[in-house]
Amino acid sequence: MSGISDFVNGSELFTLAGEARAAHCMLESGKGEGGEFTGWVRLPEAYDRQEAERILEAAGRIKKDSDTLVVIGIGGSYLGARAAIELLRSPEYNLLDKDTPNIIFAGNNLSGEYLGRMLDFVRDREFSVNVVSKSGTTTEPAVAFRLFRELLERKYGAEGARRRIYATTDRKRGALKQLALAEGYETFVVPDDIGGRYSVLSAVGLLPIAAAGIDIRRMLDGAASEMSILSCKGMENEAWRYAIARQALYRAGKKIEILACFEPAFRFMAEWWKQLFGESEGKGGMGIFPASVEYSADLHSMGQYIQDGERSLMETFVSFESSRREIFVPSDRENLDGLGYLAGRSLTEINRAALEATKAAHIRGGVPCIELRLERISEESFGALVYFLEFACGLSGYMGGVNPFDQPGVEEYKRNMFRLLGKPGV
Ligand code: PA5
Repeated sequence: MSGISDFVNGSELFTLAGEARAAHCMLESGKGEGGEFTGWVRLPEAYDRQEAERILEAAGRIKKDSDTLVVIGIGGSYLGARAAIELLRSPEYNLLDKDTPNIIFAGNNLSGEYLGRMLDFVRDREFSVNVVSKSGTTTEPAVAFRLFRELLERKYGAEGARRRIYATTDRKRGALKQLALAEGYETFVVPDDIGGRYSVLSAVGLLPIAAAGIDIRRMLDGAASEMSILSCKGMENEAWRYAIARQALYRAGKKIEILACFEPAFRFMAEWWKQLFGESEGKGGMGIFPASVEYSADLHSMGQYIQDGERSLMETFVSFESSRREIFVPSDRENLDGLGYLAGRSLTEINRAALEATKAAHIRGGVPCIELRLERISEESFGALVYFLEFACGLSGYMGGVNPFDQPGVEEYKRNMFRLLGKPGV
């Protein structure tokens, strides 16, 4: 991260560091508001090893008997898994020549067009379903599950369907848990003390991620190292610095944070980040509005506004020092396209120049910029980044004076929808 002094003067820093320390203590002790949902703080070292083994076995079974896995869930029940698969394998994962199943996502909308396409996709394929819902009562995934379950039962019979359904839900409560018990589905647990948007490193994310052939142990190792790095209380803690910079900027009128990355595979990671920060901080008429852009593409659509529009923005770049794939610009003796000056240079170097140029331009245009630098895209760095952002979000939420672990605002649309649809008892 860049120098914190770019964002905050000495006395503000003193106050904010005190707030960060208090927030850190609340996360550590679980004594802050919503402290009953801070199980994710110790998850990378405290996770259930036996369940992790079962996840790997289930992923192996899915690979053996299915060419497609349907992951049904919404919000924190699917975004992290999708982010990992797109970043670590490919945004075009289903088009890869691979020995792991296709993964499609359902239950995050109520569109007949969308669900119809997904059902058509699997109708003549061998498929399994991982339905993920902590509450077990969310309408979007419940409707999708009913549709895919019906198709599975028609295709494989009740017993065949039972073997192909994996339910990730609460240990004891909820309609999905009761259904899983009654039907005998294999179940995985969303721990009581971990809310949806902090759950990607639990079975919620791990089963689909493992099914996509990603090494979940390396991911958890990366998160565990980050957990130990972030245990220190002081300004050398990068999560403190990120949280402090965000809070200082918010208090100075920067109400919108844009997450920017020059890797298209990062798109769903940004979606996950938006949910994490938006649902955690947007409360009581306050909170930074999280937005995201995908560069270079969005430099040619959102770039104008960011450079020159209303000055209520801050921007956080996520960058990778090296690339898993080096591609060099070829030489061409004719040089009719005028790109001779780039011949022999790597896209990593050119993409980095685009980032530096953008950052400099935006800073000059009055947009304070933060940069989160990672070495490279890997299982370990994904685990570390998830943990880092969750920790920074918990800190920042407490510093902003909200409970970062509830989401009361999500209920209002649900109540309206139930009323409109005539749900009994509403
Ligand atoms: O962060 C949260 O808790 C929410 O966004 C949930 O992930 C989302 O609402 C889905 O809930 P559930 O898993 O209970 O279906």
